[in-house]
Amino acid sequence: MVRVGIVGVTGYSGRELLRYLLRHPHVTISYLAARRLTKPTPITAVYPELVGRLRLDYRPFAAQEAIRNADLLFLALPPGVAMTVAPALLKAGKYVVDLSGDYRLESPSAFAKAYGLRHRHPHALKEALYGLTELYREHLPKARLVANPGCYPTASILAAAPLVHKRLVAPDGIVIDAKSGVSGAGRALKEELLFTEVNEDLRAYKANEHQHMPEIAQELGRLGHSTVRIVFVPHLVPMTRGLYASVYLRLKRRVTAAQVQRWYERFYQDEPFVRVLSPAAGLPKTARVAGTNDCEVAVRVAPGGRTVIALAAIDNLGKGAAGQAIQNLNVMLGFDETSGLL
Ligand SMILES: NC(=O)c1ccc[n+]([C@@H]2O[C@H](COP(=O)([O-])OP(=O)(O)OC[C@H]3O[C@@H](n4cnc5c(N)ncnc54)[C@H](OP(=O)(O)O)[C@@H]3O)[C@@H](O)[C@H]2O)c1
Repeated sequence: MVRVGIVGVTGYSGRELLRYLLRHPHVTISYLAARRLTKPTPITAVYPELVGRLRLDYRPFAAQEAIRNADLLFLALPPGVAMTVAPALLKAGKYVVDLSGDYRLESPSAFAKAYGLRHRHPHALKEALYGLTELYREHLPKARLVANPGCYPTASILAAAPLVHKRLVAPDGIVIDAKSGVSGAGRALKEELLFTEVNEDLRAYKANEHQHMPEIAQELGRLGHSTVRIVFVPHLVPMTRGLYASVYLRLKRRVTAAQVQRWYERFYQDEPFVRVLSPAAGLPKTARVAGTNDCEVAVRVAPGGRTVIALAAIDNLGKGAAGQAIQNLNVMLGFDETSGLL
């Protein structure tokens, strides 16, 4: 059994990690930490539903305790915190899967621009592996530090990847209209996220300024071997979980619907968690992927054959966070990729 810890267990991603790990056949949950407590406290004080299922205290984070008690640590912390926690864990030879944005961008200057913070562990950015499992699976067994992708990037990249990989997309031909449920913003109190503010409301935010934009551009650029410029508008929708990316791709040449459908089906044919819907199956739905690590994808070709509409739905806390983090753990440590996730 691999001993696994969660730092940030009281947050939404931390809770979702617990849910998946409790049913994982090859791990034991051995260390839990958060911030706003002064002494070790039973985790059932936060999650009473775990009475009889998990007897373990959570505690203020302390590197030496984490190192003593776990082989792999999930960091489910706000941006800017993981990069202060990971160095000691890595130095002690631990595996780290970071769910924040701290290690996703290749350069410290790109990180500073996106997050408005100076990177405190810049030399690790080169060694961190971007953990979109479908694209980096073969590198995961050698990785020590995995940067789990953001929720918007996961859906957007999976929607666009087959065509970008074929190098059919015009360099400035990607427009992403994305929507997330409110849990995507985390559990911390924010006035604009109160029920009374969010209910019966639909709003765009950070239009073309969101911190996930450089991450999406970086990864699609790598995949297509060229610089990619994207337009990205995220929206907040009044539901708890779920994330939808509608990606409009302008192509360099004409294609047919049958060709694009075939390319997508082939690209994802062996993927346990990406489901390409047939035209008869309709379009993705967040309700169908809620509580799972699945990503539903569908493609349509606009009249004229030069624009493809690629749609993807995920659970922001599943494939967009905790589910994918566990998928990465499975591949890193040589377990069946679906362990704990089906
Ligand atoms: N929510 C999503 O859908 C989603 C999707 C993908 C990626 N992510 C990323 O995953 C990370 C976690 O997101 P979340 O939504 O789960 O956040 P969250 O609900 O706000 O939870 C944050 C957690 O971090 C803990 N924490 C904060 N500062 C800490 C510190 N200095 N030391 C130890 N623990 C500390 C908090 O503990 P206290 O409760 O004690 O303050 C809490 O347990 C974020 O970086 C986020 O961007 C989130």
